[in-house]
Amino acid sequence: MIYLDNAATTFPKPKEVYNRVYEVMTKYCANPGRSGHAMALEAGRIIYDSREIVANFFNIEDPMNIAFTSNASEALNMGIKGFLEKGDHVITTTMEHNSILRPLTTLKDRGIIELTIVECDKEGSLDLNKVEDAIQDNTKLIVTTHASNVAGTIFPVEEIGKLAHSRDIRYMVDGAQTAGAYDIDVKKMKIDILGFAGHKSLLGPQGTGGLYVNPEIQLNTIKEGGTGSQSALLTQPEMMPDRLETGTPNTPGIAGLAAGIEYINKIGIDKIRADEEKLAEKFISELRKNDLINIYGPEDFSKRVPVVSINIGEEDSSEIGYILNSAFEIYTRPGLHCAPLAHKTLGTFEQGTVRFSFGAFNTEDEIDKCIDAINEICESVV
Ligand code: ALA
Repeated sequence: MIYLDNAATTFPKPKEVYNRVYEVMTKYCANPGRSGHAMALEAGRIIYDSREIVANFFNIEDPMNIAFTSNASEALNMGIKGFLEKGDHVITTTMEHNSILRPLTTLKDRGIIELTIVECDKEGSLDLNKVEDAIQDNTKLIVTTHASNVAGTIFPVEEIGKLAHSRDIRYMVDGAQTAGAYDIDVKKMKIDILGFAGHKSLLGPQGTGGLYVNPEIQLNTIKEGGTGSQSALLTQPEMMPDRLETGTPNTPGIAGLAAGIEYINKIGIDKIRADEEKLAEKFISELRKNDLINIYGPEDFSKRVPVVSINIGEEDSSEIGYILNSAFEIYTRPGLHCAPLAHKTLGTFEQGTVRFSFGAFNTEDEIDKCIDAINEICESVV
């Protein structure tokens, strides 16, 4: 089996992650922040240490400004719905995942916000001038991805952050596709709200993610309930992270996420990224030799993450994905990748794309086999 669906969720995980989840589940899995007995205190310490590891990784000054969530979609919903208020205008782009487009469209359809969706070009790249032109007096938030989950296009987050702050607008970033493989520095990039997945390049278990919120912002809550703090109150605590973390947390998952980050720190994020990029570059360079294959996203390798969408002629992408799976045991994601406007931008709304996404554990040999398989499929469809 060759696993090339790391943009959906990474597989495998480092053995340190499996071991840590098992260790926490078998030794320390009391309810953190509640009860006060020794095992509950230990569970609380595990969560705190994990929060610190995440904070250091993204250059976040105070770990308490991070809320753990169950995935990036939850984090992005909390950021969008917690920040925006009636009459606010928001700018986003056509390359966004539905985890941004759907909550924004929900607020727009409820008559709460005005929304401008800036059109990206055929490579999925964003023209900053178009963002600037879209700014209105009531623009409160710019929301963009750090990299497209369909075309791999990297967005100029630092420039967008600068633009937003120069106009007194908050900037929110969807780091689902980059956190763990590309540097994210919330201070340098002027990111006010960052949503990230724990189970993708951060190499943690599924059911993990997080939200960073600039301490100058207090989000409204979209969930309220038990926090183990200020229990006499009927209202949600104001302090972070209790304001946004409600109910029993995913202690083993969060510990596993921290173990994933520690693994990345040990190997080096630059090395992991360089290895993944090398595989993607070889893959793209070889496929470019075959005229039947359409490759989407930026031509310039420095402008893309190792997420490569292709099509073979006019063939249905789901059919190609099925053949890769059944005849070659190569696991990809075909079809529409929860980002309908990105597919419209790239011209793949009808056909979808076959997406190959590379991870920390893929090898050159796997990429060679995958290239051979695609060329063989091409021969059979001519
Ligand atoms: N957002 C994930 C993907 O792009 C699930 O596949």
